[in-house]
Amino acid sequence: MGTGKVPVVRVDQLGDYVGEEVVIQGWLYNKRSSGKIRFLEVRDGTGIVQAVLIKNAVAPEVFSAYDSLTQESSVIVQGQVRADPRAPGGYELGVSGIRIVQVAEDYPITPKEHGIEFLMDHRHLWLRSRRQHAILRIRSEVVKAARDWLDDHGFILIDAPILTPTAVEGTTTLFETQYFDEKAYLTQSGQLYMEAAAMAHGRVYCFGPTFRAEKSKTRRHLTEFWMLEPEMAYADLEEDMRVQEELVSYIVQRVLEKRRRELEVLEREISRLEKISPPFPRLSYDDAVELVNGVIRARQAAGEEAAEGAPGREEREPVAELLEWGDDLGAPHETIISNQYDKPVFVHRYPVQAKAFYMKPDPERPEVVLCADLLAPEGYGEIIGGGQRIDDYDLLRQRLMEHGLPTEAYEWYLDLRRYGSVPHAGFGLGIERTVAWICGLPHVREAVPFPRLLNRLRP
Ligand code: 4AD
Ligand code: MG
Repeated sequence: MGTGKVPVVRVDQLGDYVGEEVVIQGWLYNKRSSGKIRFLEVRDGTGIVQAVLIKNAVAPEVFSAYDSLTQESSVIVQGQVRADPRAPGGYELGVSGIRIVQVAEDYPITPKEHGIEFLMDHRHLWLRSRRQHAILRIRSEVVKAARDWLDDHGFILIDAPILTPTAVEGTTTLFETQYFDEKAYLTQSGQLYMEAAAMAHGRVYCFGPTFRAEKSKTRRHLTEFWMLEPEMAYADLEEDMRVQEELVSYIVQRVLEKRRRELEVLEREISRLEKISPPFPRLSYDDAVELVNGVIRARQAAGEEAAEGAPGREEREPVAELLEWGDDLGAPHETIISNQYDKPVFVHRYPVQAKAFYMKPDPERPEVVLCADLLAPEGYGEIIGGGQRIDDYDLLRQRLMEHGLPTEAYEWYLDLRRYGSVPHAGFGLGIERTVAWICGLPHVREAVPFPRLLNRLRP
């Protein structure tokens, strides 16, 4: 079986083999029997096909193989492909042969409900379940779409190092490690290196894992997450936002085109994603504070204590507190803002004190910086952070000192302001938060194959 002329095919190719004999290599997802007919649901990674065993049509040992097959047993099935609109996927297999590769032990994940910690402890097996399978295929499409868009728009992929001597996004969230005789840190962002690369190539991006030793337990925080970081020479904040809205819209439309079946498995509301197209609304930080405080005051007046978060989310956010000018926006504030729009919304020009050392002050209002965060709709919060960088040598040196950062370690970064400095801008798109939004997930932990969280390093 599986040799000779019978082709080994994938479940997602069955449409090309209707009427023909094929071999499928996979695992038993489910089985059921009804009189003289037995049904095997076989998954092979690309899909699930129903294989039908009819007592009088096959050898007795083939028919009885059904009995020894347990959930997740590895199995090779041969049979004729039939188009059947009632079958899940549209095709089924009329079985002529079965080879059991391994009979699986009692599988821990059964169709009954399991708690999230149990499932996370069994993440190495949970990946096989239908929803998790759909999420990671969408993640793969998100990454491919993002890279295709950038590659087609003049960006060059430049990989950033993971072991670094310095901080990018503040010193409180650094993962420290020993690097021979000195200390090193796992990178928080490839940005500083991309700024160097942009001065060599014009438009560049990196895509890789980044690390934050944040003691946050929210549904948006991972300690290890993947970030896509484009950087552009001769670009300002306006250009930065324009690139972001084009890129994000393209990603969403590609997922709709190529991964619609997976979105359906997740029961995602497709019509909400169909609305995602440029331009995205732009809201200044000042207006954002007013909007948020207006909503909070209205709630207080109505005597509501409602916490943020859409219904069904297991982890509620804390109740939003009134903002004072200068405060950074917290997750509950972002949720209030993003719930007002059907599309992602830019919040731009935050106060200097709320943002990182490298952000360029607005020449017309030096108390704010030329930055923007992109907040996804439906309460998903910030998926992108970015903006224009300081291009003046003296100001950058001054900011490093104000932030208590050792200027010696940043000499190479300062060099970029000494040798042909130009206005430049970029951003970081968090892959897991983007996938969580597109998939409609309650928590980012399902948007990454093996999540690293405050309380989870395993499996
Ligand atoms: O806003 P952040 O911290 O920006 C930077 O790191 C810049 N240096 C990027 C740049 O301009 N090149 O992070 C950017 C994005 C966030 O909007 C969010 O999507 C994601 O990275 N992110 C996280 N995702 C999951 N868990 C965390 N702890 C995250 N921290 C940031
Ligand atoms: Mg940010």
